Amino acid sequence: MTCFGIAFSILLAFLLFAASGLYDVAASRMHWRLTREFLSFGLRRAVATHSRDISAPKLEDMNLIVLGAGHFEDGCAPCHGAPGRPRNPIAERMLPNPPHLAAVVSSWSPEELFWIVKNGLKYTGMPAWAATSRDDDVWSVVAFLRKLPETSPDRYRLLATAGTGRSNQIIDLGAASPESDDLANCTRCHGRSDLGSALVPRLAGQPQSYLEQSFHDFTSGLRQSGVMQPIAATLDAKTLRAISAYFSKLEPSRAKAPMAEDGAIGRGREIATRGVAETNVPACRICHSETASPNVPRLDGQYALYIEEQLRLWRGGLRRQSGNATAMRIIASRLSEAQAKDVAAYFENMTRFQPSPPLAKR
Ligand code: HEC
Ligand code: HEC
Ligand code: HEC
Repeated sequence: MTCFGIAFSILLAFLLFAASGLYDVAASRMHWRLTREFLSFGLRRAVATHSRDISAPKLEDMNLIVLGAGHFEDGCAPCHGAPGRPRNPIAERMLPNPPHLAAVVSSWSPEELFWIVKNGLKYTGMPAWAATSRDDDVWSVVAFLRKLPETSPDRYRLLATAGTGRSNQIIDLGAASPESDDLANCTRCHGRSDLGSALVPRLAGQPQSYLEQSFHDFTSGLRQSGVMQPIAATLDAKTLRAISAYFSKLEPSRAKAPMAEDGAIGRGREIATRGVAETNVPACRICHSETASPNVPRLDGQYALYIEEQLRLWRGGLRRQSGNATAMRIIASRLSEAQAKDVAAYFENMTRFQPSPPLAKR
């Protein structure tokens, strides 16, 4: 028999076996040990090969770690469990079942973890990242995963749920309302006064219509974020309106901004109030002032790191391309990294709602 004949017979045998329906697809019965070891070997080799060209950024930053922990609570713990919390019995009956990650993460390099979290694992139930363009989100999860083995249950609660346990944090939305549980979830990440991540924007005092618009942009996918898109998808219109109204009426944060680099605030003020003539950048204050249209976010008192990150997303074409954001994409592409840093430091150091200074004459 020729080689072709042998290959054809093997293929036919496989087809007949599949067609017979004899293979047991029940997840209630474990794989044989040999099958399990073969699959696990193949998986490790595939991850190692595919993550070869990735190189990790600095991951020691608390802003990344806290954001990663916040997402872990919603996006990973329901399957993998968390420090001090066993896995859900339903997830335990998956085949293969999602392991307690604290016990396994140190066997993977940061680059391999990045690859797994971004791409997911075919045929296992491990999902890919919800926003494929947002590698920066994925790195925040990797930054947290690396800390997981040494994270005690108390420390985990502090990082991921602001130490409260999310659902017993009662927040008054006027009267006791069904929305308050959703809102308690928002405050785990937004508006923390203790261990907030500067990558999570402050929402207090933002115009209600900007907040609602942002949500529609996350749900429609115009604005991509692996952290916010899954959260936005779970809220109905009524809840969204109530929560947006709540944040828009809150007193803006008066927390002191961290020290900016020497001269940065002055240089940033020039850009914000005069623009940059050489590169045709308009003064930010034309639009970002307290008298601005309700579709323009306030930047005063916003985290500098968040402002820089959003400008970077626009430069890379990763924030929405239509409507209100068209101007911002062009403006961001005309700012250098250094100018973006300066203007962000200026805005972070302004107290929100203090009358913005008049635009300087050119
Ligand atoms: C729907 C359930 C589910 C969710 C949600 C989920 N995973 Fe998984 N995960 C799995 C399954 C199933 C596996 C495969 C286990 C195997 O092959 O042994 C897995 C495997 C992994 C692995 C490889 C572990 C190993 O050594 O085998 C890592 C790392 C991982 N997940 C991280 C995450 C992170 C981080 C998140 C959240 C961003 C997450 N997972 C969300 C189900 C899930
Ligand atoms: C796990 C942390 C986390 C939780 C929980 C969370 N957010 Fe966010 N939120 C973020 C991050 C990170 C961003 C920035 C997204 C980006 O990079 O575009 C964001 C952005 C936003 C924005 C856009 C703000 C702006 O200035 O453009 C709004 C509005 C928002 N979140 C509302 C909410 C609401 C309402 C809830 C509760 C239902 C919530 N978020 C829960 C992390 C979180
Ligand atoms: C022509 C009006 C206009 C000018 C000028 C302008 N912006 Fe904007 N900016 C907007 C609008 C509108 C949005 C909201 C975009 C959206 O809905 O996604 C925005 C959003 C932003 C955001 C995102 C804030 C958030 O909460 O997510 C940042 C950061 C920003 N602008 C920075 C700047 C900087 C820095 C300058 C000056 C160099 C500037 N903008 C000049 C109109 C403007």
